[in-house]
Amino acid sequence: MDTIRVGQHWNRNAEAWTTMARAGYDVYRDCLNTPTFLAMLPDVEGRLGLDLGCGEGHNTRLLAQQGATMIGIDIASRFLQYARQTELEKPLGINYIQGSGPHLPFAANTFDFITAFMSLMDIPQPSHVLEECHRVLKPGGFLQFSISHPCSDTPIHRKRKDKQGAVQAIELGGYFQRLEGAIDEWTFSSAPEEIRNQWPAFQIPRFTQPLSAWLNQLVDAGLMIERVGEPFPNEETIAVCPHIADARVWPYFLHIRCRKP
Ligand SMILES: C[S@@+](CC[C@H](N)C(=O)[O-])C[C@H]1O[C@@H](n2cnc3c(N)ncnc32)[C@H](O)[C@@H]1O
Repeated sequence: MDTIRVGQHWNRNAEAWTTMARAGYDVYRDCLNTPTFLAMLPDVEGRLGLDLGCGEGHNTRLLAQQGATMIGIDIASRFLQYARQTELEKPLGINYIQGSGPHLPFAANTFDFITAFMSLMDIPQPSHVLEECHRVLKPGGFLQFSISHPCSDTPIHRKRKDKQGAVQAIELGGYFQRLEGAIDEWTFSSAPEEIRNQWPAFQIPRFTQPLSAWLNQLVDAGLMIERVGEPFPNEETIAVCPHIADARVWPYFLHIRCRKP
């Protein structure tokens, strides 16, 4: 599947995704993924940053609130409409641009840093995106990204529950198989049924590759890994957000920060 088709799928997901995420139902993002990502992020105050695959701009706004000058880029125009509308209502100086990760419309050595929250694994041939990130980063600049953990987000993935119904383990398979746009259907599991049922399930084109492919593509792009995170919720987080308890059983997310020498 090419990037244009991928963008068409994300355009169709945009209204439901934005509405439910803004209503607080993207709990894995809000309780775990974004807080741990930001905790690993170096100081960005006064820096020029690109948020790649910014969606409706939730995380782009958090970076702007930390004092960064932000540009958000996404392939899906409908997500950008929501992002721009919010920027009009509550300006943070963010510029949103429609574009595609493998062909970034910026000059070489432009950005102090790039973030990509849960977007690189949604783009065919992420190696091209990593090369582009290297090109548009200034020397000394960094890329920090989160992806679905390649060791657990495999083509076969089944939860095993104990007698009380708690998730105890997962069965995994197809780790070495490369999905190239197979459609995955799901929605935010914490949303009540009457909310979820207002839209069809998200249709998400999946692209998978083993962990070694990700790491070797970073090396081949000329980026040096300096920090890795596998976020999991502590007891206090589970007390506030019990819905994400299964994130203690297997790694949902992988965070990597790497730098252009
Ligand atoms: C899982 S969403 C994440 C959105 C946002 N970063 C967040 O954390 O809420 C993946 C995003 O990647 C975007 N995307 C997919 N292919 C892209 C491409 N080739 N270039 C830029 N963005 C792309 C989608 O439109 C979507 O907004």
